Amino acid sequence: MPNRPYIVGNWKMNGVRATLPEARAIDRAAARYPDVSVGIAPPFTLVSSLTDELSHADVGAQDCHAEARGAHTGDIAAAMLADAGADFVIVGHSERRSDHGETDAQVKAKAEAAMAAGLGVIICVGETLEQRDAGQAEAVVSAQVDASLPDAGLAAESAQGRVNVAYEPVWAIGTGRVPSTGDVEAMHAAIRARLVAALGEAGKKVRILYGGSVNAGNAAELLAVPGVGGALVGGASLTAEGFVPIIAAASRNDD
Ligand code: 13P
Repeated sequence: MPNRPYIVGNWKMNGVRATLPEARAIDRAAARYPDVSVGIAPPFTLVSSLTDELSHADVGAQDCHAEARGAHTGDIAAAMLADAGADFVIVGHSERRSDHGETDAQVKAKAEAAMAAGLGVIICVGETLEQRDAGQAEAVVSAQVDASLPDAGLAAESAQGRVNVAYEPVWAIGTGRVPSTGDVEAMHAAIRARLVAALGEAGKKVRILYGGSVNAGNAAELLAVPGVGGALVGGASLTAEGFVPIIAAASRNDD
């Protein structure tokens, strides 16, 4: 059901086997909120364990290589992730773009590789504080969307809900700062316009997630913003105590 809100935990470079009980607890909670899609993206080392252990939450990776195989020491192909049982891949996270110099063209190639391997994708975009202060936020993010999206042929699969975009303002990640709800709404509308321009009808089916300092205290307000189809959560997704209230906030059955 593509229209269910999607609440995804990006564990970044956190998590070892001792963390598995947290993932199990999140999975049990996911079962209690069937109107919410839940995902966890652990480090590569835990993808296989999580796919074995979780029965309700999707399991994803945080990156993949654009090539299907070959001499790329230290990299992981999308088909390997599919083989490990993964459901989706996050591509183009701002930490990949800044730590590894990933370009929009590389992000697009990775997204296409992931989809060719049968995986869902979460394509991340977002402006820096300097870009926002300079009044360039929508232009920067729109250009990222245009250049990072898979080609239109693959986009037909967007209609199946396998393509997601995450708007993550760089300055909101890990800082405790979040944009105003008005700014979130405006940016999500700008992203939707680019998606429809690029993909036509299928662009309306792409979920647009918000990410950046989402927590139990602000999730309900952010998720209620028109156009927000879910959340990509970093720090607050590392424990069930932090993450489950965000899942609950996305549910109509929240009690
Ligand atoms: P935080 O929720 O820790 O701000 O991280 C957001 C993020 O980068 C998710 O991909």
